[in-house]
Amino acid sequence: MENKKNIFGGSVTVLPAKGLKGEITVPGDKSISHRSVMFGSIADGITEVAGFLEGEDNLSTIGAFRAMGVDIEHLKDRHSLIIKGRGINGLKEPGDVIDAGNSGTTTRILTGLLSAQPFFSVITGDASLRQRPMKRVVEPLTRMGAVIAGRNGGSNLPLAISGRKLKGIDYKTPVASAQLKSALLMAGIYADGETVIEEPEKSRDHTERMLKLFGADIKIEKNSIRVRSTKALNGCKMKVPGDISSAAFFMVGAMIAPSSELLIKGVGTNPTRTGIIEILKKMGGSLEVINQREESGEPVADILVRSSKLNAADISGEELLPAIDEFPIICVAAAFAEGITTISGARELRVKESDRIAVMADSLLRVGIVNREKDDGIAIEGRGTGEIEGGSIESHGDHRIAMSMAMSALRSKRGIEIDGAASVDVSFPGFFDYLEKVKVI
Ligand code: S3P
Repeated sequence: MENKKNIFGGSVTVLPAKGLKGEITVPGDKSISHRSVMFGSIADGITEVAGFLEGEDNLSTIGAFRAMGVDIEHLKDRHSLIIKGRGINGLKEPGDVIDAGNSGTTTRILTGLLSAQPFFSVITGDASLRQRPMKRVVEPLTRMGAVIAGRNGGSNLPLAISGRKLKGIDYKTPVASAQLKSALLMAGIYADGETVIEEPEKSRDHTERMLKLFGADIKIEKNSIRVRSTKALNGCKMKVPGDISSAAFFMVGAMIAPSSELLIKGVGTNPTRTGIIEILKKMGGSLEVINQREESGEPVADILVRSSKLNAADISGEELLPAIDEFPIICVAAAFAEGITTISGARELRVKESDRIAVMADSLLRVGIVNREKDDGIAIEGRGTGEIEGGSIESHGDHRIAMSMAMSALRSKRGIEIDGAASVDVSFPGFFDYLEKVKVI
């Protein structure tokens, strides 16, 4: 690995490797870490969180709740939090604009919560977040009685929210989005009457599980969820599992390098998140899920991965939903598979931290992988187990692009220079050090 600093935060060059070997524990789950702060802050009593992810996105969530008067002690060396909950009605009006940085999850779920508070607030974020669609949360929240103003008729940040008493609604979400669902659940626990949310397909269900853990009245039937206004949530002790979305980079890295055997310990294996395991198995990946257990209402397991001869596959939108954040690393797996892999039904990927379809199409091309961008996905001509040339790519400020392309460098002739490499801090601080520790040259 080589580091070069420049005005964009510098580049890192990842060199080829024979394999990934040994054991690692990846940092805590990003989605669960966000929610632990949110629910801990509005619960009664103390919430202790172990295994908290110190990603920049999660630090944005901590900042937002501190700004609303919550005392959150962050023991960084132990990756833990002690949150002194202010109770369901205890948040204070923030004295300044809330800056959500790069975090869509912070923004959207918080918009639901803020809509129901008896105060005024403004939320904004970085250049990428300010372009991402917010109408999907603003529109149903407005139906619940929220008063939200924003750029482009409430489509974009900054959003100015005049909180008030909301009323429950029955709402069918147009997209399967956990951020949207969670925003409405947050509003729903404050609203008069019942809030019923139905999704076209089931998105990640960490909010529902955590609401149960904190003692909320919530009913789930297939893809629909009912909540009622909640008098109190109970603070608790909880442990955040390792993030399967972070583990995914190492799963694919180990598979594409020729002599790997890697054990990834303590990974969250919630079925709404394990699409990557199913997809890699479908492609012929050697992967075992062992030592399955449950911690704080979430399934957890260890994952053993070995070098694999991957085959191309056709991957549908339905298969991709529980692997929605894994699109970039699935593209890398496809690049080293035998044959043409197609991914479709992935239009949502165009409105993530970057347009991930366009950016992956361009990045793969730059390192020698032929592909065709489609409106709702991509077709990738796999190399099989051979090496790619290598070269240099730009992360576009997107953490998952940087980490995916870093893994593709393991099977390159001359390595890959990743510009904008610091973006990895959004979800996986120390990513390049983790990689160096298990790399066999
Ligand atoms: C998340 C939901 C997903 C995912 C994001 C985290 C969450 O976004 O892509 O990284 O924690 O709720 P969408 O709700 O936009 O699908």
